Amino acid sequence: MVRVLRDRRIVLGVTGSIAVYKALDFVRQLTQAGAQVDVVMTEEAQAFVTALTFQTLTRRPVHTTAFEAWDAEQAGHVTLGANADIMIIAPATAQSIARLAHGFADDAVSLTALACPAPLIVAPAMDHYMYWHPAMQANLEILKSRGVILVGPDHGPLASGMVGDGRMASIDEILAVTRKALGRTGPLAGRRVVVTAGPTREFIDPIRFLTNASSGRMGYALAEAARDAGADVLLITGPTALPDPKALDVVHVTTAQEMYGAVKHAVQAADVLIMAAAVSDYRPRHVAREKIKKETPIQVLELERTVDILREINQPGLLKIGFAAETEQLISYAQEKLHAKNLDMIVANDAREAMGSEFSSVVLITAEGIIDRIERQSKVALAEAIIDHVAAMLRTRVATDERTP
Ligand code: CTP
Repeated sequence: MVRVLRDRRIVLGVTGSIAVYKALDFVRQLTQAGAQVDVVMTEEAQAFVTALTFQTLTRRPVHTTAFEAWDAEQAGHVTLGANADIMIIAPATAQSIARLAHGFADDAVSLTALACPAPLIVAPAMDHYMYWHPAMQANLEILKSRGVILVGPDHGPLASGMVGDGRMASIDEILAVTRKALGRTGPLAGRRVVVTAGPTREFIDPIRFLTNASSGRMGYALAEAARDAGADVLLITGPTALPDPKALDVVHVTTAQEMYGAVKHAVQAADVLIMAAAVSDYRPRHVAREKIKKETPIQVLELERTVDILREINQPGLLKIGFAAETEQLISYAQEKLHAKNLDMIVANDAREAMGSEFSSVVLITAEGIIDRIERQSKVALAEAIIDHVAAMLRTRVATDERTP
């Protein structure tokens, strides 16, 4: 379960596009994460999918008309909008965007949107030429100028059969934008956080390399948790099999040296660096220009040390968080790294349990000693707990700075 979605009141406006089928999966994901979702549909949307389908998924009444009977408990769309933490319109047709831009309230969705003071996310879905029509672009500009968050549309195959712009953004993207919008006033609001993730590759020849079993999951979860806590996030990642997290910046690197370059540049504008990457400590001293043939007599691979990124980065004011992946003497090795790399906090875990897994348990250590032990959890839940500590450390730092003349 993603914490930023739990118990949040989300209003989903659904309008008449074939992309409605994606909205079903969106609702499922939101409700599974513990959100309360109220669906509002236009008449056109009901031509594609019935209210019953959304009702079954949300276990809540679905609103389909602008003129619902007044109910003293639930004053229809007016209270729905007024009590929402966020409203999302996905898919949003050309017609519904025009209605929104000009303040019409002649269907259930536009009426609810008018009566909703919470942030509004709009995911357009339409044909290529409709999307690029000056009238549509002008309407989108109006929405943007009012602070509406537009997500997509994407380029790809459209309902008309042509390939172009106008395809509704992916559910992953709309979900990430929703999480970011819900977390905008969180404990890391206004902070810039750089997170590294995944392994690095150190090449032996053009196709072979040294690497490790890091999946990147911990770093990706940390980047998303920081984003959900309101931070502006840059994820610097080595090669992983995971899709890029959305609604945050991602830079791909391959070698330790490339990661160092990217981190050095990124931290200049950052408040926090979290090094969750499993950086290779060694690289081949010589990289063969061509593929090494097996006829070549058996060779000894000569290695040299890579740069220790965390140790090298020492920017005043930057909160530095490291990881210690150990197979023995967890706490003492982690404490040595905390001091040697001049860290504010180190997250110690058992490399055999954590590497490549969706779960891990961690011990958080600062100069004061062990500050938290978190038992085996999903990396998503661990990341949220680690981010809470980071936020607390930043708060303490601000309080200390304010006291110091
Ligand atoms: N790290 C780094 N640059 C390296 C190696 C590690 O910045 N070249 C960072 C990791 O991202 C992690 C921390 O340093 O946050 C500790 O990494 P770890 O692999 O546990 O320790 P090492 O310093 O590599 O020491 P050892 O391999 O001897 O345990």
